[in-house]
Amino acid sequence: MPETPPRHIAIIMDGNGRWAKLRGLPRTAGHAAGAETFRTIANYCRTLGVEYLTVYAFSTENWKRSTEEIGGIMKLLAKYLREAMADMEKNHVRFRFWGDLSRLSPELQKLCMDAQNRSASFDDVQVNFCLNYGGRDEIVRAARDLATRAKAGTLDPDEITEDLFAQSLYSAGVPDPELVIRPSGEKRLSNFLPWQTVYSEFVYMNVLWPDFTPTDLDKAIAEYHRRSRRFGGV
Ligand code: FPP
Repeated sequence: MPETPPRHIAIIMDGNGRWAKLRGLPRTAGHAAGAETFRTIANYCRTLGVEYLTVYAFSTENWKRSTEEIGGIMKLLAKYLREAMADMEKNHVRFRFWGDLSRLSPELQKLCMDAQNRSASFDDVQVNFCLNYGGRDEIVRAARDLATRAKAGTLDPDEITEDLFAQSLYSAGVPDPELVIRPSGEKRLSNFLPWQTVYSEFVYMNVLWPDFTPTDLDKAIAEYHRRSRRFGGV
């Protein structure tokens, strides 16, 4: 058991494709295994008392993948959300979706909204699914929102502060993640939460996401605790 975990952990669930390739399986099999890992890790975060878990499930860049792979990921998400809703009373996980859902199928959009509404009062871990999410896109949307309000005369540009700006992001009201984990050996942020991670600790791990276990999460949390966090102070 690690020390007190961070309040907010963010994870780039990377390496599903390589995991599948190593086994001679289609990429969608890697995503299916990745979805199971997500279920395990979300439950483990709940056990540890983590308040927020944010995961990169589908980026604005992921539309460049094959129709088959995109369809496979969307199907898995729908399956996962249906199962999560069936288990909702038991698990008490609160769901939020960060990203532009309008490009998803009407069926998946409805599932997301139902999961969000039905879990709104739960107070165990809050899972933020980044779906059709891009960090720059999130910032541009916030800028557009504030500009629209300024143009309408309801906002004085001089009142725009970091706090006010943050209120127009998908993450409004959620504390920034203290820890960002990227498995699979890649060492990039890939347009994931650029605003929210300016002071986060980054832990990169050489394990593919489908192989990621609660013990790996313990290791990442231990590494986070080893680092001193001074926020630019002394
Ligand atoms: C990155 O691995 C993973 C994704 C782009 C999709 C993540 C989706 C899931 C884990 C499944 C759906 C999620 C839930 C929670 C139901 P990659 O495909 O880029 O792997 P690679 O770098 O090895 O090719």
